[in-house]
Amino acid sequence: MNKSHKSVLSRISAVVVTGGSSGIGNRLIKAIHKIDQNLFYCNLSRTEPQDLPPDLRWKHFPCDLAEPEQITATTRSVQAVIDENGGQGEVLLINNSGFGSYGPFPEPNLEHQLGIMEVNMKAVVHLTGLLLPLLKKRGGVVMNIASTASFQPTPYLTTYGATKAFLLNWSLALHEDLKGTGVRTLVVCPGPTATNFFKRAGFATPPTDVHLKQTSEEVAEISIKALQEGKTLVVCGWKNRLMATMGSLLPKKISAPVAAYFLRRARLEEFRRPLRGK
Ligand SMILES: NC(=O)c1ccc[n+]([C@@H]2O[C@H](COP(=O)([O-])OP(=O)(O)OC[C@H]3O[C@@H](n4cnc5c(N)ncnc54)[C@H](OP(=O)(O)O)[C@@H]3O)[C@@H](O)[C@H]2O)c1
Repeated sequence: MNKSHKSVLSRISAVVVTGGSSGIGNRLIKAIHKIDQNLFYCNLSRTEPQDLPPDLRWKHFPCDLAEPEQITATTRSVQAVIDENGGQGEVLLINNSGFGSYGPFPEPNLEHQLGIMEVNMKAVVHLTGLLLPLLKKRGGVVMNIASTASFQPTPYLTTYGATKAFLLNWSLALHEDLKGTGVRTLVVCPGPTATNFFKRAGFATPPTDVHLKQTSEEVAEISIKALQEGKTLVVCGWKNRLMATMGSLLPKKISAPVAAYFLRRARLEEFRRPLRGK
């Protein structure tokens, strides 16, 4: 990581992150901390992160983002803790929590599908809306973790892909809404990344060629670089950028069957087992 990155991050004194308990969210915390050790972190997830650096200043807020009343109550506590421990600088909000489910809709069940929408979309709008006055007061950035699934319909990940398309468009539009307020947005679109995501989503094997797979460290590094460069959108890696461009350029009614062809190869037949309700 380039040393000049520090200067941009040094404007930020507090980070609110969802899903720091694993995968990309966890790596983002560690990667930011490596650059600047003076930030204070608030993590919202159901489980507490276990492996954060001992010198990290942070607090875990147990929160199921599928439950709106938990978001409201938790955000009140987060704001109080930031007032006390979060310095006077800008605030970085990282909406990272999310999950998907592999299989034809509505497998594994409708409740699970609605849960994907709650966490991947509604919780992001809810948390951002509640924290926006604080961000406007201090200045800051809303970083949303979308996906390359945002760029085309994703059969077998039908609801998941649509939530990520929402997140991409919402983030870019929000950036325009917020012009002149001192708050900007960045939407990050990783492709297949080696985390718990695929296991949780019920995949037997990742849906695309293993050569496309990135590590959560790589995704975190790309995200931070884009943050420092003031970008509003970053697709992680040239192979993913190529896929995203193709997904965007193809007419939707063609990109849907093309995506179905590739996603069907993820050994759908091995999925005829109950998927966990996560
Ligand atoms: N891995 C990929 O290939 C990939 C590709 C593109 C985009 N993404 C996106 O990257 C983000 C992070 O995923 P990941 O790959 O790092 O997977 P991961 O390791 O499974 O992490 C998912 C995180 O989301 C949190 N989460 C899930 N449901 C939640 C809930 N109801 N309430 C609060 N937090 C919840 C989890 O925390 P708890 O379980 O502790 O609550 C966990 O920390 C997601 O938005 C995902 O869609 C991933």
